[in-house]
Amino acid sequence: MTTPASNDPASQPDAAASVPGRKPMDAIMSLCKRRGFIYQASEIYGGINGFWDYGPLGALMKRNLREAWWQDMIMNPAWGRKGPNGEAVRCVPVETCIIQHPKVWEASGHLAGFADPMRKCAKCGHFVRADQYWDTLVESSEWFNSLIQEFEPAPMGTQTPGLDSSRMMKWARGKGKKLAPNLALVRNPEVTLSWLATRVNGQPNVPPDVQEIVRHVATEQLNATGLQEPCPRCGGELGAPAQFKLMFETWAGLTQTDDNKVYLRPETAQGIFVQFKNVVDTTRVKIPFGIGNTGKSFRNEITPRNFTFRSREFEQAELEFFCHPDESHAWYQFWRDFRMEWWRSIGLSSDNLILREHDKDELSHYSTGTCDVEYRFPFTAPGYGELEGVAHRGNFDLTQHQKHSGAKLEYFDQERGELLPNGSRKGERYLPHCIEPAAGLDRGVLALICEAYTVDPARPSPEFMKFHPRIAPIKAAVFPLVNKDGMPEKAEALHAELNKRFGRQGLIETDPKQTIGKRYARMDEAGCPYCFTIDGQTMTDQTITVRDRDTGSQERIAIDKVAEFLGEKLGE
Ligand code: GAP
Repeated sequence: MTTPASNDPASQPDAAASVPGRKPMDAIMSLCKRRGFIYQASEIYGGINGFWDYGPLGALMKRNLREAWWQDMIMNPAWGRKGPNGEAVRCVPVETCIIQHPKVWEASGHLAGFADPMRKCAKCGHFVRADQYWDTLVESSEWFNSLIQEFEPAPMGTQTPGLDSSRMMKWARGKGKKLAPNLALVRNPEVTLSWLATRVNGQPNVPPDVQEIVRHVATEQLNATGLQEPCPRCGGELGAPAQFKLMFETWAGLTQTDDNKVYLRPETAQGIFVQFKNVVDTTRVKIPFGIGNTGKSFRNEITPRNFTFRSREFEQAELEFFCHPDESHAWYQFWRDFRMEWWRSIGLSSDNLILREHDKDELSHYSTGTCDVEYRFPFTAPGYGELEGVAHRGNFDLTQHQKHSGAKLEYFDQERGELLPNGSRKGERYLPHCIEPAAGLDRGVLALICEAYTVDPARPSPEFMKFHPRIAPIKAAVFPLVNKDGMPEKAEALHAELNKRFGRQGLIETDPKQTIGKRYARMDEAGCPYCFTIDGQTMTDQTITVRDRDTGSQERIAIDKVAEFLGEKLGE
């Protein structure tokens, strides 16, 4: 869920539009398309809402992110640190099906509860999420954002902006007519404005700030003319909320009846819970341990938006970490802190990341703690959007699957229970508790792209991408300064050497054509951290130049030290 910093005056739409340093989303999306990071799915057919494809650089980058997660969560969990039990953290992977037995979703609660309350506009047919009405208005309503421009800024020392009736009237008769013909202010400007004037200009109950006043324009004053919450698209009347199911349905088998109905998974987590017993029985894992699962999930989101942020098909990387109930809180803290550190380690700046603990009333009934790692995306700034959730799920899921499947999912812990005379333990049978760090890989890629996007008009490529070397799709480039005098051959030999050693991690590019400035600019835009150039001096002293993407500075190193240099930078 996005967190609108709604109490923060800076989060009001007019202020948000001019947040200093906010990166332009249009320019980021255009670079993504131009350089082959992200394309609209089915673009030649006009695209399909909520679905995105990755181009060559995007696919490589997403693979790097997945690999980094896999490496730091499964192969060498938490970078080899010890957990709160004083032992090394242990995790194993699974890869489970997108389509599961329908009872999985009955047990998990998705079948009954995974739905959003939606309201339909009687005038234009647009749907709005009932519980996000205000956010939707602020974030995406054209008429609303145009209307609030008409308020005078608040006089110094007050929080209440002025209301200039003639400006509002002009708006109602001009822009308002075009943007929101069904709004009360447009249909009946005189009545609405006289009501508003009593509300705003020094009368009792004067609203305290811009946001409050705008809320009145959008809601209460319209109540007087019959529209309580006008449609964010056209200002028309919204119907009562109705539940809208988020799981995609299909059939498994020839007959397309309810008996054969199946669902595309809305999360990878349930695949882990239903295989918990098999993993315990077929491997040597002992509690505490984690099971990781990465793969596609599907949600028929009602309002897919903000580029890939809310998509209908997306990839998750989820870990379910099973532990004894008494240790669960310590593990919750452990994963919460590690996940924040991890996102920072791959290039997200601390300034743009927060860990937001859910309030008590936000928690599921079974959870004793949940927090979100949130990133300040350009479209949420100055607020934040969820990148990953870390939840203490208690034993809710195992309990549910045990109940619905009839399978015994309890764990027998030989290292617990009463101490016996022979020095061993009696053992304890219990349903483990579970801590779930659940990350979205597409949101991860988007956050890394937004973070990396940098503008410097003084550079040959005014837009460039400051990717962390671990995430960068192109790891290095090797260029001959000119395409003659033995330089191409030397460059080709170095390229082959680097490709052999680092090619598994990403692209090693080479390109003998164009001016060297243009070649650097192209690499900068793709986020390649290092360019190695063979020049005239190389032919005499066997040194090359290394150009650093972020500073543009160059140094000379010996050609036979290039692989070692790059290995260090890539964290080998
Ligand atoms: N098993 C818990 C779970 O699925 P979630 O918060 O619904 O929790 C986890 O999802 C992560 O998956 C989110 O933090 C987000 O990064 C990603 N995610 C969820 N819905 C998404 C969507 N519609 N588009 C892109 N990513 C999404």
